[in-house]
Amino acid sequence: MKIVCAYFSRTGNTEKLIKTIGYALEQQGHTVAWEKIETVKKASRFGELKKDIHNYPGVFIGLMSSFLREYFLKTYHQTEEDILPLTYPDVSQFDRIIIGGPKWARISYPVARYIHSVKGLKGKNVASVSTFGGPPLRVFEIELIEKSTERILTQAGASVISHLGLSSGYHELGLMPLFRFISYIRFLKPVKEFIIGSAYSEPLLTSFCKTLGERDSPSLMDPRRHLGSTPLLDFEDPRIKNWGKTMP
Ligand SMILES: Cc1cc2nc3c(=O)[nH]c(=O)nc-3n(C[C@H](O)[C@H](O)[C@H](O)COP(=O)(O)O)c2cc1C
Repeated sequence: MKIVCAYFSRTGNTEKLIKTIGYALEQQGHTVAWEKIETVKKASRFGELKKDIHNYPGVFIGLMSSFLREYFLKTYHQTEEDILPLTYPDVSQFDRIIIGGPKWARISYPVARYIHSVKGLKGKNVASVSTFGGPPLRVFEIELIEKSTERILTQAGASVISHLGLSSGYHELGLMPLFRFISYIRFLKPVKEFIIGSAYSEPLLTSFCKTLGERDSPSLMDPRRHLGSTPLLDFEDPRIKNWGKTMP
């Protein structure tokens, strides 16, 4: 199959994760094309935070109940950011599209602009990949990024077949001490046990690649959906083995 891996990565973590996935898919015999999404201007880390600060009350209030989360999910205004012209502005030639980016409260703004502006998403099988600094908190990390991404992908007419969200154990805004503390309270484990390359991440990565490689991948809404556990990643491949050794 022809697969395009489109990603934005400000500090390199999502890039390493999506490259691991792309190389694994190449090993399975698929043809992989790369789309590195780049912003027109490089803002400072706090400059990026400021652009979306109006959405933070909704994010935190939404943690109190699933009803409020659903409400904010349906009504929040997604911040976007200008991106440079794309190598593949129309993805209709591809069988699968993988879209990756960091979690910035919800979707990172360059990824949101990409989904909004790229042509040919309608009817396509799309999967999302994200990294975040904290441990895999079901609501604050996983649900916030995956449901928000699903919302705009569905609006673009895509069929969402899988998500993968993993911790990078890195936070540009200096929040790792807080996340380390939360990880001990919630999981009784340090964040490093959940990062890419950990025993926790391997079956998730394998499952994700398996779903991507299936010719008939049912959408997440489809009851036929099946996640297998056959190992398909060659963890001896040096590109995968060296993953994480040059983390920022
Ligand atoms: C503006 C901004 C908002 C962020 N929001 C979150 C967040 O909500 N949760 C989290 O765990 N990490 C958050 N992070 C940290 C990134 O998600 C994390 O470092 C990610 O792995 C970075 O990916 P990258 O290296 O591909 O850019 C945020 C970072 C920035 C700059």
